[in-house]
Amino acid sequence: MKFFVDTAEIDDIRDLAATGLVDGVTTNPSLIHKSGRNFFEVIAQICDIVDGPVSAEVAATDFDTMLAEGKKLAKIANNVAVKVPLTHDGLKACRALTQAGTMVNVTLCFSANQAILAAKAGATFVSPFIGRLDDIAVEGMQLIADICTIYDNYPNFTTEVLVASVRSPLHVLEAARIGAHVATVPPSVLRQMVNHPLTEKGLAAFVADWQKTGQSIL
Ligand code: G3P
Repeated sequence: MKFFVDTAEIDDIRDLAATGLVDGVTTNPSLIHKSGRNFFEVIAQICDIVDGPVSAEVAATDFDTMLAEGKKLAKIANNVAVKVPLTHDGLKACRALTQAGTMVNVTLCFSANQAILAAKAGATFVSPFIGRLDDIAVEGMQLIADICTIYDNYPNFTTEVLVASVRSPLHVLEAARIGAHVATVPPSVLRQMVNHPLTEKGLAAFVADWQKTGQSIL
């Protein structure tokens, strides 16, 4: 399973990338707004920190402008994945951009039918938003299971399922059990995944007992 970090905060990206566990980054207009940074500058900086795909989302909703924006975003760096919404025009833009060799992440996916269309449009990634489905009492993880089952039925579908709107380590665990290709995870959730009270308790006991030996390794 690949882990992308879902943020535009440079310090978080740099800190987590240093672990070697980060395979990419996703941003969206809300995360860019929250960062307070210039869009092109922050995407370029992220692309310098992380070698994997970095999602940068178009702002337009019409095909022609999405295509123009997507082409401009793709020029920022070779690892930019252009994000387009799962709409009629977004799918058209996805097809055109992928045929031009650009990675495309089709976002705001909330149904298996939408995911089928994203795969037909040649998307590199499709981003089902499971947290926002859970928020309205619809099982987001069931959508991931449905999409992965459907995609497995068609070997010509090369689109990777990028689980998004992740709210907890449990979302990541369940997505991994299903076999989703990627999870894009907020920095706080990625850090939560590391922690376990028994690890902390066991390490404290090891440190204390080692100190009692009076020895040193270096
Ligand atoms: O960035 C895409 C997605 O992960 C956003 O999730 O938390 O705004 O529902 P969220």
